[in-house]
Amino acid sequence: MISKHHVVQKILKNHNNLNYFSTASAFAPANIALCKYWGKRDAELNLPYHSSFSLSLGKLGVQTTISFAQEDHDIIISNNQMIAQETEFAQRIIEFLNLIRPNKHTYFQIQSTANIPIAAGLASSAAGFAALVKACNRLFNWRLDKQELSILARLGSGSACRSLWHGFVEWHAGLAHDGMDSYGEPFTVQWPELRIAILIVSSQPKNISSRQAMKLASDSPFYHCWLTKVETDLTAIKRNILNQEFLLFGRTVEENALAMHALIQTSWPPIQYTLPATLAAIQKIWQAREQGLALFFTQDAGANLQLLFLQQDTLQVQALFPTAQIIAPFLNVP
Ligand code: PMV
Repeated sequence: MISKHHVVQKILKNHNNLNYFSTASAFAPANIALCKYWGKRDAELNLPYHSSFSLSLGKLGVQTTISFAQEDHDIIISNNQMIAQETEFAQRIIEFLNLIRPNKHTYFQIQSTANIPIAAGLASSAAGFAALVKACNRLFNWRLDKQELSILARLGSGSACRSLWHGFVEWHAGLAHDGMDSYGEPFTVQWPELRIAILIVSSQPKNISSRQAMKLASDSPFYHCWLTKVETDLTAIKRNILNQEFLLFGRTVEENALAMHALIQTSWPPIQYTLPATLAAIQKIWQAREQGLALFFTQDAGANLQLLFLQQDTLQVQALFPTAQIIAPFLNVP
């Protein structure tokens, strides 16, 4: 098995110089998968069985500052709160820092601020690892290109490799054992009228992380169907974006999310992210659609929904879901 260390060494081989800065900052947006990633062919390197496709959330994301710590351990501060070393959150970051530490006595202070609603269960870890990798690139003056940064971000969290860009991003699954061909690539079509809204139906923490749940993915008897479906959906989503065909686009995105949840529910032991409140919101969306509103949803590994619609329907969506936070992912991008 190829280790993360091996991959990091390969990427940094010709990029190590001694002109470090003392501190560096970077921002990365959160991203919502429109064609989901579910299932790893290599759990160490976060290599997926299949490609996936996302939309970044503009100004919503994570700002991270990295500096050298005077203490004899790493210091992790998230949203102004010191995070205990033994938490899973801190451990994942420390594990990542172990990969890039110039020597074992160098420690870091990581300070990150997320402006994504915490309860939304949105993959803030994706934005977090992407921002951390960008900040490290500046701190160490690596001068890596975005493709290499995307590979490094993937080692922290799979979907982080898509958070290096704004707008639509495709994560190519790749075939190589070391994952050097598994990274994000922007799909450079703009859709300024597209809106995405975050609908929080529950602030309960989910009972199983996507990392844990994904390990069971290929136990589902439908996993091979999922692989076929993702391939078809990915092609359709890109075509629908190119043609700006919202109804077909929304349908494919919603179908893809429903298929992923069917997969999750048919793994063993079965997992259920959908809560009664999620279902109530889904029924409300379907009813509104029957009455002619072009409104669709997607759902990550959690109970909350992300709504997709066009600018012209903003008032109607606001009236249906007054608490939803509406984002224009192609406007006012930082
Ligand atoms: O990258 P992870 O390990 O947080 O997994 C992300 C899984 C989903 O959000 C459900 C799908 C995706 O493609 O982002």
